[in-house]
Amino acid sequence: MAVVLGIETSCDETGVGIVVDGRPAGEALASSMAEHVRYGGVVPEIAARAHLEALMPCVTEAFAVAGMTPSDVDAVAVTAGPGLATALQTGVAAAKAFSLAWDVPLYGVHHLAGHVAADTLEHGPLPERCVALIVSGGHTSLLRVDDLARDPIVHLGDTRDDAAGEAFDKVARLLGLAYPGGPSVSRAALDGDPHAIAFPRAMPGSHDFSFSGLKAAVARHVERGPVSVADVAASFQEAVVDVLAGKAVAACHEQGIDTLVMVGGVAANHRLRELAAERCGTAGITLRVPPPRLCTDNGAMIAAVGGLLHAAGAPACPLDLPVDPSAPLTRASIVR
Ligand code: KG4
Ligand code: ZN
Repeated sequence: MAVVLGIETSCDETGVGIVVDGRPAGEALASSMAEHVRYGGVVPEIAARAHLEALMPCVTEAFAVAGMTPSDVDAVAVTAGPGLATALQTGVAAAKAFSLAWDVPLYGVHHLAGHVAADTLEHGPLPERCVALIVSGGHTSLLRVDDLARDPIVHLGDTRDDAAGEAFDKVARLLGLAYPGGPSVSRAALDGDPHAIAFPRAMPGSHDFSFSGLKAAVARHVERGPVSVADVAASFQEAVVDVLAGKAVAACHEQGIDTLVMVGGVAANHRLRELAAERCGTAGITLRVPPPRLCTDNGAMIAAVGGLLHAAGAPACPLDLPVDPSAPLTRASIVR
């Protein structure tokens, strides 16, 4: 039995999770979101200070929920990138201290591999091969994932400009809705007509994404005069999820892969989940999406990657493991 403690501090959520043989045993989450709202985005220094304050209470809580103590832990995993440098540092420093004090291996984990592994906490091990759509605040990628712990991750498509979550956040600002934009835009969209405005779907036929033209189209529409916020929100959301679901299904076809894993903060979006389920159903593709609380940042998803690396016999990271704020996604672990 392998017990892994995972720590996530790449952005504004302080997440700690304990995973036992790939299953979540105890989790704790703190967020500095409320402190960033009035700035319309995450302020790195505020986030880093909040992580410092929240980290130990979260570790204590995760152990309490799991009914465990540090002596039960076999490995420590931490997000080493990508993310905000000062925020990442707080988690990595803590993880190094735990690794040293408890004499257990340390694994530096790529945040996005954590998002992919989040699904295993709910639905068990990933199949031999799958296509993963990662849609978060900072990233939008279509990946081919084989053995997450052992094989390189293949990028089938990436965004050329804004990430999907970033588009939600920017459009929320244009519409005067609260940050973070995803939840507030999708709430506003509930009362709107998704076909009211024909917003553009960029880069048809490509696996790459572009959302800056869509954002500009929303801005032009809003500038032209009084608008129905609900209709704009619904039409914008429909344009985003139509592109995401369409390209993900096309990538599965092209790769001859019948499992799609959809992860990251935007995968919490109700309409995206609904449309992807519909399109995958028609195409005979098995859709795996974690529950919303595991789509957004958390510590258990990082522990899940640590568990896979540990089981695969991956080498532990040295205690001088650096953070890598712009780490490219090539492998689940981050090693120098
Ligand atoms: O994965 P995540 O928690 O953090 C990053 O790694 O970026 O994703 C955060 C992003 C934000 O841009 C937020 O607006 C978006 O996920 N998001 C949503 C929803 N919930 C969160 N976007 C659309 N619909 C949602 N329900
Ligand atoms: Zn994330």
